[in-house]
This record gives sequence, structure tokens and C-alpha cells, in this order.
Amino acid sequence: ELARIGVTGLAVMGRNLARNLARHGHPVAVHNRSYSRTKELVEEFGHEGTFFPAETAEQFVASLERPRRLVIMVKAGGPTDAVIDEFAPLLEPGDMIVDGGNAHFADTRRREAALRERGIHFVGAGISGGEEGALHGPSIMPGGSPESYEALGPLLEDISAKVDGVPCCTHVGPDGAGHFVKMVHNGIEYADMQLIAEAYDLLRRGAGMEPGEIAEVFRGWNEGRLGSYLIEITAEVLAHTDAATGKPFVDVVTDQAEQKGTGRWTVQIALDLGVPVSGIAEAVFARSLSGDAGLRTAARELPGPSGALAEPAYSLVADVEQALYASKIVAYAQGFNQIQAGSAEYGWSIDPGAMSTIWRGGCIIRAKFLDRIKQAYDAAPNLPSLLVDEYFLDAVRGAQDAWRRVVVTATQLGIPAPGFSSALAYYDGLRAERLPAALVQGQRDFFGAHTYRRVDREGAFHVLWGGDRSEVAS
Ligand code: 6PG
Repeated sequence: ELARIGVTGLAVMGRNLARNLARHGHPVAVHNRSYSRTKELVEEFGHEGTFFPAETAEQFVASLERPRRLVIMVKAGGPTDAVIDEFAPLLEPGDMIVDGGNAHFADTRRREAALRERGIHFVGAGISGGEEGALHGPSIMPGGSPESYEALGPLLEDISAKVDGVPCCTHVGPDGAGHFVKMVHNGIEYADMQLIAEAYDLLRRGAGMEPGEIAEVFRGWNEGRLGSYLIEITAEVLAHTDAATGKPFVDVVTDQAEQKGTGRWTVQIALDLGVPVSGIAEAVFARSLSGDAGLRTAARELPGPSGALAEPAYSLVADVEQALYASKIVAYAQGFNQIQAGSAEYGWSIDPGAMSTIWRGGCIIRAKFLDRIKQAYDAAPNLPSLLVDEYFLDAVRGAQDAWRRVVVTATQLGIPAPGFSSALAYYDGLRAERLPAALVQGQRDFFGAHTYRRVDREGAFHVLWGGDRSEVAS
């Protein structure tokens, strides 16, 4: 008997993915650089299914049925290249290598092209859901050739999360499409987390509420339209008490957010594509600001208001819920626009409705309102923005007064709310009849003769600013 699929790299994600496969009745070969991890896995969880422990790369490859399906779960970057270099020479045309790590999609494109030359399918698959997701059902975003999906799809769909019986896994598109979509998923994750953090800050410092009370507010929100994994775990974190000090856990954690890079990539690529993902960018920058301890210490004496609202807290609670929902819609709208732009740039033909479908379960950004996003894109696959979909338009229409009040309140109290305020600025930018970009064009023409277009005539024009200021066609 041979293994249907193999997993190499048995840190927690790889180990849980292998167990998930075995638990679903798929005989799975397991391999790790150091054999002790492989042994441990089989000793501890061998009873969960059929495992083929391999000591060497050769043994590992020999234990796989053909065409071989080999999943690598190692660190993105150099380690991934090293593992590919180790295994590719042992494979044959038609075999498949799946990279389930958080690789940069440009690396995935490069690897896919190189392996394609040797007849090997390289599948960059975004996998979301953390350790628990890997074990109990993640959301899976595989790229690569349609042919490889035929051989891999049923297996991956089988182990993925299900919502209403629908697997949270679909073929995203060729080469790097899967890792691109996973990258944007993470960018949205950053924005979502930042918005939730701002909501917390406003309730804590603005309304003077305690973490335990705020946890209750989040529990309530989780029952409504904001219902989502991130809101749910936020309530858990806020309700947690530090055992050593008896203080709220959130008060004993250093207030410097770290990041591994996927949020930053999302913004870098968005800049290249010219897509304003301001919500994601603010979230990345907010983490950077929080992490710059030296700068923060140097700036601690900067003057500003401090203190809480005189008003009763409840109105702020309701307003913040509205601001959070509206800002969240903006963050997702921006992320989906980036997916559409990436898809157009690289010729991936990504179906945004299918992405919202596979994000409904398993992944970190799973949320009730992804059903609404799916409906919006199912009705109009080329929707220019989620914000103009009827449901979301209505939601924002209902939320905007509260949203504006929250931004004003945050500003007056001196509580930073870059996520809420940039989302609102984006919204107002979109709906503006005339933007001051006209003035920017005038400035560019003044100092650099960069020319401008007119509202009433075709062509490019320039004013002789240094001369008689007459207009010339350029
Ligand atoms: C997921 C997550 C995961 C990511 C962590 C940490 O979808 O399961 O996005 O892939 O690694 O969220 O990311 P940061 O360390 O950058 O916050």
C-alpha cells in the first residue's frame, strides 16, 4: 500500500494538516528534517489513521502513490526553496508539490514556472485558520494548474472547513493566484484586527469601560451582523485575567504589535497595482508605530487632550458598533478590489464570489457578512466596489452618522483611530463629486509642465506659467 499524499515539515501546522488528512481516511506519508518529530507524531497520533513515517527524502517519495502529491509546510523564503531543491530531483513529470506556507506570490510564480519546465506541478496554496484550522478544517486557497486541482482538489476539499455543506476550498487560479489571495486575506485580517482594537480603545478610554464589560459588549456584537471569529476571540482575550497579577490580561501585555510580513506585502503590492487599500495600510503602520518604543518614549510629552467622555457610555457603544461595521465593509471592499486588480494584472480570472465563499469558514477572517459579500458578487461579478452593492450601500447609509460621530469623538478625545478615520476618508473620497486632485494637477503642471486634461475638451494641456499664462495644447 502507498500513501495518497505526503506532508514534509512537521511543525505544528504541518503536523495538524497530516493528522487532518489521516483522520479523513487518507493514508499520509510524513517527513521532517529531523526524524524525531516524525516519530513523535506517529507515536502520539498514529491511531488516528494511516501514517507512513519516512526517515529520508527518498523513502518519503517512494511511499507516495503516483502521480505524487507532496505538501511542504516549512517557513516561507529560503527554507521553502531548499526543500523544493531537495525533492524536485526525486520527482517525475506529473507529480505535484504543494506549498502550504505563507509564501510571497511572486516566489510562487517563479517556482511554478521553474518546476513546470520539468513537468512538475507546483501549487501555491494559502491555508488559513491557524493550528486549530489545520486540524479541524482550514480555509484553503490553492493556485496552480487546473490539471493539478483535479488531482488535489477532492483531497483538499475533504479536509477543509464546510459551511452549509460547501467546502471552504476552491481552485483560485493559475500559478501564484492562491498565495496572492491568501496575502490579501491576511491584509484584511490586519485591518479587521486594527478596527476591533480601535473600538476597544474608544470604549476603554473614551467610555471608561473595563475590559470585562467590553468583552460583554463584543459578545453581544458577535450575535449580530458583526458576528465573526475575530470578534469572538476578542471577547475571550478581553475577559481573560492574568493569573500572576489578577489584572486584566490585556493590561499586562506589552503594547507593541508584531508582524511576520504578509500585511506589509499586501500594501507593497497594492502600491504597485495602484489600489488604495488604506485600511490595510493604516493597520500595518499602526503596528509599526506601536512597535517603535524609542520614538514613542521620545514623543510622550506631546500635548493633547486626555480624558473620557462626559456623555453616558451606551451611546458611544452603539455608535462604535456602527463605525466598526462601516469601516469593516470599507476594508473588505478595498481588499476585494485588490484581488480584482491582481487578477487583471496577472490574468488569473479570479472569481471574487468564490473567494468570499471559501472565506466563510475555517479562516481567521471568517464572518457572517461574507455571505452578503458572496451574494453581492454572485449578483454582479464585476461589481466596481462592495460599497455600491445595494445591501452594503444601505448598511453604510444607516451607519454613517454614527461613524462620523465616532471619528469626531476620537479626534476630540485624542484617541487615535486611523482605521475608522481613513475608512471614512476613503468613503468620502469615493462619493465626492469633485476632488482636489484638480488642484494637484495644476501644481504638477506649474512646477514640472506635467500637463493636465480639461473637463470640457479632449487632449493634454499646459499653461505657460512662467510667461503670459496662456494655455497651450501639448
Ligand atoms: C491565517 C493567519 C496566519 C498568519 C498569522 C500571523 O490565516 O491563519 O493569517 O497565516 O501567519 O495571522 O500573522 P502576523 O504575525 O503577521 O500577524
